[in-house]
Amino acid sequence: MTKKSDTGRGIAGSPTNYGDPDFAAYLRRSFAKSQGYSTEALGRPVVGIAYTPSGFNNCHRHFPELLEAVKRGVLMAGALPLEFPTISLGEVFTSPTSLKFRNLMAMDTEEMIRAQPMDSVVLMGGCDKTVPAQLMGAISADIPAIQLVAGPMSTGRHRGERLGACTDCRRFWAKFRAGEVDAEEIETVEGRLATTAGTCAVMGTASTMACLTETLGMSLPGCAAIPAVHSDRLRMAEATGKRAVELIGSDLTPSRIITPAAIRNALRMLLALSGSTNALLHLTAIARRAGIQVDLHEFNRLSDETPVLVNLKPVGPHYMEDLFAAGGVPAILKELGGLMERDALTVTGQTLGELIDAPMIDPVDRTVIKSRAEPVDPQGGLVAVFGSLAPRGAVVKRAAADPRLMEHEGRAVVFGSLQDLAERIDDPDLDVSADDILILQNAGPKSDSGMPEAGYLPIPRKLAKAGVKDMLRISDARMSGTAYGAIVLHVAPEAAVGGPLGLARTGDRVRISVSEHRLDLLVSPEELDRRRADLMAPDVKRRRGYDRLYNDHVLQADEGADFDFC
Ligand code: FES
Ligand code: MG
Repeated sequence: MTKKSDTGRGIAGSPTNYGDPDFAAYLRRSFAKSQGYSTEALGRPVVGIAYTPSGFNNCHRHFPELLEAVKRGVLMAGALPLEFPTISLGEVFTSPTSLKFRNLMAMDTEEMIRAQPMDSVVLMGGCDKTVPAQLMGAISADIPAIQLVAGPMSTGRHRGERLGACTDCRRFWAKFRAGEVDAEEIETVEGRLATTAGTCAVMGTASTMACLTETLGMSLPGCAAIPAVHSDRLRMAEATGKRAVELIGSDLTPSRIITPAAIRNALRMLLALSGSTNALLHLTAIARRAGIQVDLHEFNRLSDETPVLVNLKPVGPHYMEDLFAAGGVPAILKELGGLMERDALTVTGQTLGELIDAPMIDPVDRTVIKSRAEPVDPQGGLVAVFGSLAPRGAVVKRAAADPRLMEHEGRAVVFGSLQDLAERIDDPDLDVSADDILILQNAGPKSDSGMPEAGYLPIPRKLAKAGVKDMLRISDARMSGTAYGAIVLHVAPEAAVGGPLGLARTGDRVRISVSEHRLDLLVSPEELDRRRADLMAPDVKRRRGYDRLYNDHVLQADEGADFDFC
């Protein structure tokens, strides 16, 4: 049976057939009728809605209201909306790290789309890992699909300034660690950082993924930046439901939308946003599901010619609500114009070029979205580095770092694990100075911690108190998209699989040159061989269940940390 004949058949479509297909369809309709649907309703095509509210996911707090609007759009267009739950991943409530469960959510999404009778699907996600997981699953299932994101939180106020999760969370915590903010104020701030439904208010991972999804053509134009609580978000939900009906029976499936050109366009958007480093990992995994390889050398080529245009925290002063008011992703796309590959198809049925040509209603606010003639930065916000410390590459968000540290040589101060880091980083006797390079080992995908957002190593307390704001920090971990600093992440191969990062020792010299795309451990190959031979075999941990599946099959960061069998 071809894929096409599986679509457009409604609730009774394609049941498991044990020899009497009419009986199977009759049985399915009779069970659906127990939910009170009429024969007429059950005769309509079905739009599935991958629905992810959770008491552990504050960012999806408004999903019940958003769901009603999606359903309204589906009904208005003549189909039957049926939501189904999948795993939801609330970024800060998932241990040891939400990344570990992204692949599980992708599998859940894919299999539930495939297993249940739906003719198209609306993907409702928002918080960091949920959107990449849904896109990964939808590509693999490959029925017509459209993404609806949660939208960003609105900002709060504190003593005359705006606060938004979670760049300001870090800023205030750093002040608290340095003794500039007292315990009473930090408690007040705690209640003012995240005050509405929606995803983090800055250009963190969720916002970056929302913008990349729109650029990929997997959500409707303008979808990414509408605030979660704005009435436009509900209208966007309605329009998304309506479009999901129009997609039924068409061959405009994710595999036709997620093409090499669409991926390059999304990479350019990531660079122009100076978006989250996590998004590179997710986009690599999304591309891989579509059979496309993201090459970090090509990424650097794009980075050299794509300016940073968007001036949001953590790079600039603004928030997602400002990006919305400034014109959102359509305005950024217009400015990127000639750099984009115009033929890429979108879920609207139009090409990206046609969307770029659509007239804008309002003039673009140039304090938030810069022109290509006067960019925030002439080069992309992210760059990959390679060398003897990271043979398969590592990633730096150069736009958010002290430029002095992007060309730097220094002495390594090495922490062997997260626990070692926690035990020693604030030790007043730690031998460390501001020019040293902090290295964290064993925090990559196959480590026990599963690649957490631990790459933002704290500045040792005694240096923070002395006024040190930034240091070069290197690890095989990730970093929150809301964080900033001279931070090298995603080192591949990771320490836990024998990468040279695991051979670094305190006192070694390390050199970075972002302009040359280099990251080197200045230790002789003979000495590294000797250290490798001396490495003790790690304790083989007895794993079971998903932990075992994950550890056995997760790929390295440069391959998107998806499973090798997906
Ligand atoms: Fe959900 Fe930041 S915690 S987007
Ligand atoms: Mg985040």
